[in-house]
Amino acid sequence: MSGMDVASATVTLRVNRFAPRPERERAARSGSPFGRKSSPFGSSSASARRRPRGKQWTQDYVLHVRPETTVLECLLTVKRTMDPTLAFRYSCGHGMCGSDAVSINGTPTLLCTATVGEWAKHAPAAASIDDEGFRHTGSPETIDSSSSDSNIANAHGDNAADLGVIELAPLPGFPVQRDLIADIDPMLNQITKLAPYLKADGVLATTDEGKINVFEYLQRPEQLAKYEMLSNCIACGVCEGSCPVFAGGDAFIGPAALIAVSRFVNDSRDTATAERLDMIDTADGVAACQSVRACSRHCPRGIDVGEEMWQIVARVRER
Ligand code: SF4
Ligand code: FES
Repeated sequence: MSGMDVASATVTLRVNRFAPRPERERAARSGSPFGRKSSPFGSSSASARRRPRGKQWTQDYVLHVRPETTVLECLLTVKRTMDPTLAFRYSCGHGMCGSDAVSINGTPTLLCTATVGEWAKHAPAAASIDDEGFRHTGSPETIDSSSSDSNIANAHGDNAADLGVIELAPLPGFPVQRDLIADIDPMLNQITKLAPYLKADGVLATTDEGKINVFEYLQRPEQLAKYEMLSNCIACGVCEGSCPVFAGGDAFIGPAALIAVSRFVNDSRDTATAERLDMIDTADGVAACQSVRACSRHCPRGIDVGEEMWQIVARVRER
């Protein structure tokens, strides 16, 4: 990038778009509501939840950026100046809330912390065969986006450097609601079922007079250190979208849910360890983890998710 007018660089956002089929159209296609087939597993089976029903297409947006511009800032520019129909979710804008996890170039990560300079890429050069039968790969070529809808915000002239393409899709492993918005309720419901709150027996919380004193849950620094990092989880779902077992559709409660359990199992104040380990000692609990450790790669809070999985699996097996 040195020596280049970085303000005049362009990037192409290639967005996987999805518009769900309207409710009344779905009802009409399925005929009488009294004639619907019912499944003994209900409509929340993994395959039914993950199968999108509606219109899918790819759309390109070309805009002027600096390498340090975040992908979230790019999408906000698109939404405000080019296409108000584009749907995505965010809240804090600073890597704290976990609401904007998507797939960028096939990798689950947060929109607000991903920069254009980090993620824009050029397509691999097309191979050509010469007269003597040798393959030549040549230098990277500018992406031709003419095959899909394209919107161009070119307020700076035409000689901008092309930073390349960023491909955006919803977080893998979750049902798509619209465009880049995935329905993460299955993950949040799973975490809720596993009681993500302190269960103490109240002994330490009792004053000399027998009254409850919530400030009496004492801990040493080394006890705090055992779960402090785990308590930083923001339930973004990046680890779940990275996990080939979870995102692949197998029955697995997922790494985020196991991190929530691990956080309390490692808390010296919690008295429900046996109960918590029982809850995850199931076929779709720790038994489903295949130790691929892909969950560790992109956790925005720096949690070594794979290592924590390994530790909690060992705790369950050693009982
Ligand atoms: S462990 Fe990391 S990647 Fe997984 S949900 Fe929590 S913050 Fe996100
Ligand atoms: S918007 Fe809150 S983490 Fe990205």
